[in-house]
Amino acid sequence: MPTNVSTIRKGRRVSTIASDEFDHWTRTDFRQINTDLEEIYFAQEDRAAVIGVGEDLKSKLVSVGEAHVEALLAEGDTHQPFDTAFNTLGNLGLFMAALRRHELTNPDKETESPFKRCSALCLRIASSLGVAPRFVSPHLSANNYAVNGVQKAFTNLPDETIFHDYNLYSILYYKRAAEALVHIPELGVSASATALMLKEAKYALEQVALYNKTLFDKLDVDRFFYSVRPYFKSHRVGKINFRGANAGDFAGINQIDLLLGLCSGDDLFYGNILAEKMQYMRPEDQRDVQRTLRIQPLMEGFVESADKYADTAWFQENCKLFLEVCTAHGRTAAQHQNMLVEKYIKRPAVNMESQHLKQITASGPPLDELMNTLTHLRDLRIAAPRDDIDTAHAKIETLKAALAGKT
Ligand code: HEM
Repeated sequence: MPTNVSTIRKGRRVSTIASDEFDHWTRTDFRQINTDLEEIYFAQEDRAAVIGVGEDLKSKLVSVGEAHVEALLAEGDTHQPFDTAFNTLGNLGLFMAALRRHELTNPDKETESPFKRCSALCLRIASSLGVAPRFVSPHLSANNYAVNGVQKAFTNLPDETIFHDYNLYSILYYKRAAEALVHIPELGVSASATALMLKEAKYALEQVALYNKTLFDKLDVDRFFYSVRPYFKSHRVGKINFRGANAGDFAGINQIDLLLGLCSGDDLFYGNILAEKMQYMRPEDQRDVQRTLRIQPLMEGFVESADKYADTAWFQENCKLFLEVCTAHGRTAAQHQNMLVEKYIKRPAVNMESQHLKQITASGPPLDELMNTLTHLRDLRIAAPRDDIDTAHAKIETLKAALAGKT
């Protein structure tokens, strides 16, 4: 019997035999098949040519995966705890994403997933949990339980491990920054403890910047572009086409945006981002974003205080720290766009053969459209001076002037 995540975690059997065996497969043979296929693709002159290549391995992937799906369906709904069901959904999602990566399904060529039994199971589990019926980034990051030091992944390629590891480190520190900031609205911008929490958030965001930079230095461009990124494409589950996971599918980054006041739920652009993202987050993250949308941003608190309190000690200390946190958050957003997306998506796409260019992004829109969205997000987070969109630039300038005694 394979040792499985849920058996170890709870110290008692809360998973089923079929979900244990499926989990074991995703950690072992599934990874090996994907790795073998990646090595074949990567050795070709056109590394993006996938159709008709490695057919034996692909049929093994389909037949073994589908046998696991049948075993899970045969066991039926066993009233599993949330974490066990979420884990099984993640495993089914990894399987479906691999089928998409190997062009065994393609949402542009179909109106419904050919993997009907697997789709049905994903839809049933996802509906019971209140999440999207596919793997989402928490399955490979903050909810990716390590067995004997190894977390789940699609392949055994070292670059995939690098990608997941540094994504996870950044995510954990974004969460830590959000957890610090979330205390402040209850304390008020003038509390002495607010300074502590701002320092904590600043430190955490500096750690995000450190891990983003390390990822930038360590990850091989070609391996990421040709062998890792393709597992993050959109695919159909049943009839609906679901976008691929991205490292942003957690509440923390949006809590920081909203709490600082760099982004607003009333802004149509940002509101769309949040609404779209909801089902890709775990339910507790969905609730965190909802709660944050009902809180007054710290930016407003400082701007309202600027006239009256600019020369007080608390304003000088807390507002200075607040602006440093805004700068630290903006820096991570600029790194994401100007370093990571530029180096690992935009530049390699230039050299890609035109027939493969379609769908190179996780969410499906053309690359230019995606770049515009990510640039817009970056500019909100860095409070860029832009005439065409509403950013927090003017408010930041007001606070800087208040600190300098120029109001
Ligand atoms: C090689 C590294 C990375 C690349 C190439 C990359 C690329 C991308 C792309 C292309 C998107 C848009 C998704 C789509 O619709 O296709 C995206 C979204 C996102 N990524 Fe990354 N990413 C990388 C690493 C990271 C890391 C380390 C983080 C930190 C947690 C991160 C956080 C986000 C967030 C939060 C979003 C959602 C949009 C937003 O709120 O900014 N990414 N990424």
